[in-house]
Amino acid sequence: MQTLAQHLQQQAIPESLTQLLLTLADTSKSISQAVRHGALAGILGATEQENVQGETQKKLDVITNDMLKDALQASGHVRGLASEEEDYVVPVSDAGEYLVCFDPLDGSSNIDINSLVGTIFSVLPALQGELTEQSFLQSGRQQVAAGYVLYGPSTILALTVGKGVSFFTLNPDSGAFLLTQDDVQITKDTAEFAINMSNQRFWEAPMQTYIADLLLGKIGPREKSFNMRWIAAMVGDVHRVLCRGGIFTYPTDNKNPEKPYKLRLMYEANPMAFLVEQAGGKATTGYQSILDIQPEAIHQRVAVILGSANEVDTCLEYHAEDYSGDEPTL
Ligand code: F6P
Ligand code: MN
Repeated sequence: MQTLAQHLQQQAIPESLTQLLLTLADTSKSISQAVRHGALAGILGATEQENVQGETQKKLDVITNDMLKDALQASGHVRGLASEEEDYVVPVSDAGEYLVCFDPLDGSSNIDINSLVGTIFSVLPALQGELTEQSFLQSGRQQVAAGYVLYGPSTILALTVGKGVSFFTLNPDSGAFLLTQDDVQITKDTAEFAINMSNQRFWEAPMQTYIADLLLGKIGPREKSFNMRWIAAMVGDVHRVLCRGGIFTYPTDNKNPEKPYKLRLMYEANPMAFLVEQAGGKATTGYQSILDIQPEAIHQRVAVILGSANEVDTCLEYHAEDYSGDEPTL
């Protein structure tokens, strides 16, 4: 089986990008170790700190953020980094060719119940000039690589460098990431959806109607039964979509009018949208392709609908019917 390093050598990408991706993969091995030690290492539970978004940080959020930060600072290829757990962008090295955005431990509410968590990353080109937040505000189409590492029963790296999606499984004996699936393709059609149903009453009208029609099954307009899954870690839900198709959404809601969206554009939506498009799927807010969004702030949040192309198109038709030129007010 091909190792990650061998696979990257064949991709016709700059050596600096290969080295950066190997650094990210190596760090994820250490994160995998830390996660697996769980209570034995005394690293479960919350800290007393909040991140800039007002969320209580778990101990493992902080530990994994520091692990990635240290590794990227030592890599020599990183101009700056932005993390869900850092208030501001972090300048790294003037000579670095890349910017890295990451969610060090996605789904961290799953940590304490020994369920799926993962690391998500996005690599952008570094632009000339002083490093500021502005340097990071590039659309998802500018990404040169993106991926996630899922810490599940096995540790799996899903990666794209813009030439399709590959899965690598960590061999716990040798410590190598080995290519276990190349050219991952999301099925065009699906009968499985993923949404946090407890927010139903807060969604905007098109999503209400769309999900109601799925729930009607064979007697409804879709004339087929749908199954539902919700892992509460985007990384786990997106992995399932890449493996067997599906539609995943965290839509606009008015639960908290000051926070109509949950997922972060730079650390979650963009890298996952890049992977999904590279695997033949679609990723949208309901009104615009995720990858076309011009970011306005590093911690910006967006509505996300992604997965099997035909199902996302169907969901978009519900949105188009209600669309009058502006995103609907809730
Ligand atoms: O990072 C945000 C996140 O944890 C995602 O990984 C996940 O999809 C979502 O939030 C879960 O949200 P909720 O707790 O509302 O189900
Ligand atoms: Mn997350």
